[in-house]
Amino acid sequence: MTTLFEPAFAKINLTLDVLGKRDDGYHELQTVMQTISLRDDIEIDVGTGKPWVLKCDKEGVPCDERNLAWKAAKVFSDVTGIDLGGIEIRITKRIPSEAGLGGGSADAAAVLRALNGHFGAPLSIGALAELGGQIGSDIPFCVIGGTCMCEGRGEKLRVLPKMPECVIVVCKPEFGVSTPELYRKIDSVAIPKHPDNRAMEAALLAGDLGKVAENVYNVFDPIVTEEHLEMNYIKSIMNSYGALTFQMTGSGSAIFAIMPDFEYAAVVCNMLRENYPGIFISMPV
Ligand code: C5P
Repeated sequence: MTTLFEPAFAKINLTLDVLGKRDDGYHELQTVMQTISLRDDIEIDVGTGKPWVLKCDKEGVPCDERNLAWKAAKVFSDVTGIDLGGIEIRITKRIPSEAGLGGGSADAAAVLRALNGHFGAPLSIGALAELGGQIGSDIPFCVIGGTCMCEGRGEKLRVLPKMPECVIVVCKPEFGVSTPELYRKIDSVAIPKHPDNRAMEAALLAGDLGKVAENVYNVFDPIVTEEHLEMNYIKSIMNSYGALTFQMTGSGSAIFAIMPDFEYAAVVCNMLRENYPGIFISMPV
């Protein structure tokens, strides 16, 4: 038996635009995603000789075939024809759920990377990302990581220049958001403002953090903020302590702030921690 270790990094959406609804029910997206240092840890025992087991240190996470990490191992085994000989997956969870941080997707992507590496890379990184797309729209990006423009359902990736170094505070309010419901909602409203993805790409190319911050925008943010006014409270604290920008990530409900330095980030955390225990300091990775 061998034990594999793999980090599973959370993602934030620097931009998120919904271009329209597709015939398959999904939505056409254009989103710049970024992995951050907030992470789950994945351990996999391969070749246990026993039925598959999945364990997670956090309550409420499904520990069976419903878990995306389990699905990832299954699809990897099916597509490559490799018999895993029994596995035990252990997940140490730090990424909050229903947050728009891609926690489940990150875990699945980590399983794909770990298994592919262990078995001598039968799949190219591109093929591995594509395989991830069969189980979730964010998984292809989580396989690749870094900074990417993601289009289509989220599975068409283009690697972008790295996000400039900075400190990112992530705050998860208590309430969660149903992703399918939010997509349904956006179909029924006119989107008043769209992100300028070209300007975001130019800012990344120039390595200009100020310009990156200026172009952070998520079309879902105003819809969720309108229904949950406490988002404004979180944002106002971030704003008071010098955030270059603040915005909801993905379909929410976590909000991230790009901070000019660690000291101010720490102050924001101290100000919010009492009411929001789901608060983290991280960096782009
Ligand atoms: O692919 P995934 O299972 O992560 O998507 C969750 C839900 O988000 C989908 O069932 C769909 O309602 C919505 N979605 C969408 N268009 C996308 C990605 C997700 O409508 N491009």
